[in-house]
Amino acid sequence: MSAWQLKNTMIDIPVLTIDGPSGSGKGTVAQLMAKDLGWHYLDSGALYRVLAQASIKHGVELGDESSISTLAKNLDVVFLVKSGELEVLLEGWNVTTLIRSEQAGNAASKVAALPLVRNALLERQRDFRQLPGLVTDGRDMGTVVFPDASYKIFLNASAEVRGQRRYKQLKEKGIECNISDLITEISERDERDRNRTVAPLRPATDAIQLDSTSLGIESVFDRVRAILR
Ligand code: DC
Repeated sequence: MSAWQLKNTMIDIPVLTIDGPSGSGKGTVAQLMAKDLGWHYLDSGALYRVLAQASIKHGVELGDESSISTLAKNLDVVFLVKSGELEVLLEGWNVTTLIRSEQAGNAASKVAALPLVRNALLERQRDFRQLPGLVTDGRDMGTVVFPDASYKIFLNASAEVRGQRRYKQLKEKGIECNISDLITEISERDERDRNRTVAPLRPATDAIQLDSTSLGIESVFDRVRAILR
């Protein structure tokens, strides 16, 4: 057991991990669960999204592993919860809306495939593990970042339904997009996230798998809550 595992297991801070592909509903369910439990919340995807923006801002190529991992180590990012909404500041610049576009998601997926970059963000993610507990969503929360988490969920849904959900979310945020382009982009991003060499998108062996294709968010939330009980 590594030093961080020992430290966190000893003080016994519970973690609920919710992993899954884009549009599976993991972010919404994770936020609802964090609110319900009164636990902290980590949106790990936002970290990769912000890092990709930082790379673009500083003129670093998205495949330049060494420069991006240096950026990752020194990333000046602040997450604030304002009126129940997550606000994200990169070097003091409000990137909350900017990081939610599909282009930003794709750029995030590219930097996230680089092993040194993932490594550079590991401790930063683990630092979110604070009392009374943490709810976190991403791709490798249950497999790599918090392998000793008390509760692990893997949420999936068909690519079409996920595309439709993302379309609705982006529209609500005032971000223009085309549904069929969106489904193609989501499928390509999934492929990259599933097939990368480090921390690929896959369920932890001890995760409970849920399919949200024909379930509303409220039903998924109720099921996750029932699992925790
Ligand atoms: O969850 P999201 O759509 O905001 O994530 C954006 C990208 O970041 C995703 O396509 C892959 C990457 N990511 C990752 O590799 N590992 C995580 N734990 C979270 C996100």
